[in-house]
Amino acid sequence: MEVPYHIAVIMDGNGRWARKRMLPRVVGHRQGAKRVKEILREAKRIGVGALTIFAFSTENWNRPKKEIEFIFSYLVKFLKSYQKEFIKKDIKFKAIGRRDRFSKEVIEEIKKTEDFTKDNKSFIFNVALDYGGKWDIVNATKKIAKKCITNSISDKDIDEELFNKHMSLGDIPAPDLLIRTSGEKRISNFLIWDLAYSEFYFTPIFWPEFDKEHLHKAIKSYSQRNRRFGAVQ
Ligand code: IPE
Ligand code: IPE
Ligand code: MG
Repeated sequence: MEVPYHIAVIMDGNGRWARKRMLPRVVGHRQGAKRVKEILREAKRIGVGALTIFAFSTENWNRPKKEIEFIFSYLVKFLKSYQKEFIKKDIKFKAIGRRDRFSKEVIEEIKKTEDFTKDNKSFIFNVALDYGGKWDIVNATKKIAKKCITNSISDKDIDEELFNKHMSLGDIPAPDLLIRTSGEKRISNFLIWDLAYSEFYFTPIFWPEFDKEHLHKAIKSYSQRNRRFGAVQ
């Protein structure tokens, strides 16, 4: 079975999972965080090389303040409890997205985890936090425009490769497979540039229920696809 190198995941359905059990939404987020660990471990074990998960979108600030606080408190806990394993298992952690709207504690924990793991090579683990695909494109454009203004590049140097380098994922190969849980069939402003040629897998399973077996099922579906990239086969 062909295993994708890079998997991107829109982890959705935490709230509905909790509601179904008459529990507060935040319990869904807590359970969801546990699943992240399981999926990360399994992905690495079966030979995936990079995992990029959508944890908080630029639009998620529209949620109740209390829910947002819980999400970030789970994030800090998650990072603290996982740093040792990142180091032991040679996993490189990176947060992608804006950094200017987080509390000091969140920023510090993110930076600390990134610094600890920056030279790790066996696996890349990206967490999209205050991330929006449109923001990413505008941000790359700003960086490129600045270089043009200071004459370090000219407009003739701007091509897809250069643009890619200025996007959050940088030189990492684009996701081969995008998984979205909870039955929604949309991108919700995730990696709109990088998903240009990814295979999509949608499942009705809510994220807190998405286990190893579901991951295997998604990969099996991926391995049966015929990726033509516009050519004839
Ligand atoms: C995904 O689950 C987690 C985040 C967006 C942080 P949701 O919280 O969106 O759960 P539903 O979609 O309301 O069920
Ligand atoms: C997308 O889920 C964002 C994350 C999973 C972090 P949402 O639940 O926010 O997306 P919509 O509102 O269904 O589009
Ligand atoms: Mg949702």
